[in-house]
Amino acid sequence: MADSIRFILNGKLVEVAGLPPTTTLLQYLREQARLTGTKEGCAEGDCGACTVAVGKLVKGKVEFQSMNACILFLPTLDGREVVTVEHLKAATGAPTPVQLAMVKCHGSQCGFCTPGFVMALSTMVNNKKNASDDDIQDAIAGNLCRCTGYRPIVDAARMANETTDRALPSHPKELASIQHNRLMTYDVPGGKYFSPASVEDLAMVLSVYPDATILGGGTDVGLWVTKFHMELPVIVYTGNVEELHKIRDTRVLLEIGAAATYTEAFDALAAFDPSMEDLLKRFSSLHIRNAGTVGGNIANGSPIGDGPPPLIALGAKVVLRSKSGARMVELEDFFIAYKKQDRKPGEFVEKLVIPKRPDNVLFRVYKLSKRFDQDISAVCGAFALTIEDDEIVAARIAFGGMAGTPHRAHKAERALVGRVWNEEAVEKAMAALDDDYQPMTDARASAEYRRTTARNLLKRFYIETTDPSVKTRLYRYAE
Ligand SMILES: Cc1cc2nc3c(=O)[nH]c(=O)nc-3n(C[C@H](O)[C@H](O)[C@H](O)COP(=O)(O)OP(=O)(O)OC[C@H]3O[C@@H](n4cnc5c(N)ncnc54)[C@H](O)[C@@H]3O)c2cc1C
Ligand code: FES
Ligand code: FES
Repeated sequence: MADSIRFILNGKLVEVAGLPPTTTLLQYLREQARLTGTKEGCAEGDCGACTVAVGKLVKGKVEFQSMNACILFLPTLDGREVVTVEHLKAATGAPTPVQLAMVKCHGSQCGFCTPGFVMALSTMVNNKKNASDDDIQDAIAGNLCRCTGYRPIVDAARMANETTDRALPSHPKELASIQHNRLMTYDVPGGKYFSPASVEDLAMVLSVYPDATILGGGTDVGLWVTKFHMELPVIVYTGNVEELHKIRDTRVLLEIGAAATYTEAFDALAAFDPSMEDLLKRFSSLHIRNAGTVGGNIANGSPIGDGPPPLIALGAKVVLRSKSGARMVELEDFFIAYKKQDRKPGEFVEKLVIPKRPDNVLFRVYKLSKRFDQDISAVCGAFALTIEDDEIVAARIAFGGMAGTPHRAHKAERALVGRVWNEEAVEKAMAALDDDYQPMTDARASAEYRRTTARNLLKRFYIETTDPSVKTRLYRYAE
């Protein structure tokens, strides 16, 4: 059976059949729908020129999020609403407050980035009353402008923020008419695409196609197509499996479904520690966090992913499921070698289980990258020490960017256990870190930089947790 893809585009129902499943929304908008207001800059989720608003029906209302059209595969839009820059003035026939503010504040010069900024800010204004400066910066952290400069754009955002006319045009009735809760199959000459609606159907499809590409938010997989021109003959999308979006927060543990996006999981994860919130805010951009999943960040096995170091330090476990049942492995054991994970054909990541942090566990995570926002880590270090009667009784230290997989610093941990958390202990552990890792030099950082900063991050952890006069710097953009 070959379904078509149905979504609401700028207020109208569109039905797509015959295009390969890896066609991006951006390609469709520009080449098929001839909506060329949405631009292509990088085609890898980095510049924001392709920003659109993607809406989902929630309790009869359309909830919009900003996303990068360049790495969204078209079939994932089935049952969604898409608003592009062309549609903004639909409600009144006149430019919106965001568009007017961009003109008044001189927020556009060559104009190439402008539709992306306008869409990012329109989504922000639509979703949030009285957005703060931090909200504004967050909303546009995934949008680059090479000629205007950001001050006039931020001024425009502040001005638009003061209006009461906030809404993106939405079409809940039309959207309701295309909702379904079944396994969707899209089978065309360019490839097969399955979108199950239940964990059972997901397991069933993967038992038939054990080597299929599992697709979460596509913020990695999208680039395999747009940058590496890979062909993906069978794709299985997890985004419509409601159970995989569940977040269960109890007194003793936090469970996060693999298809929960970083935006969905943000608050629950940030609650572990302010440094975790800082990390999450610097995890790519809002547009990427709105699509990218926690499960995808683990399953991709990247040595520089930001999720694994803090989750390993916190003692997280990963639940893997297939048609024949589920098993649970320690997250650190899931990463076997560079790009080799403990996942059998037909298995998928179902959820993560993270123990809650007791009060006697000191914890911090720090990310170092060349750019503050929207950049992958050069080094990411996470530290958890359990202290009883002034003695360190357990230590979990995990780094990303220091080896072919994210993994623990067992020697440094051993140097700490049984000691008092003092200068001598931290010096011993810093020295031991040199034996734990033999980092590489690559485009992000030299081996020496990585070695030095890993030691220094441990020192920073020590200073922040022992000297009450040193305040942990909470994430704040420049005033
Ligand atoms: C511009 C940009 C900036 C980025 N910045 C960061 C950053 O700051 N920090 C960071 O850590 N990452 C970053 N990333 C990488 C990426 O966004 C994250 O790794 C994200 O969490 C991946 O999730 P996804 O759902 O998009 O994965 P996808 O692209 O859908 O999948 C990634 C991999 O996981 C597999 N997979 C997905 N879900 C499952 C599942 N349930 N079971 C088994 N396998 C599965 C896929 O088959 C694929 O191999 C960035 C990416 C881009 C494009
Ligand atoms: S074209 Fe650059 S983010 Fe999409
Ligand atoms: S106005 Fe030219 S890139 Fe922003």
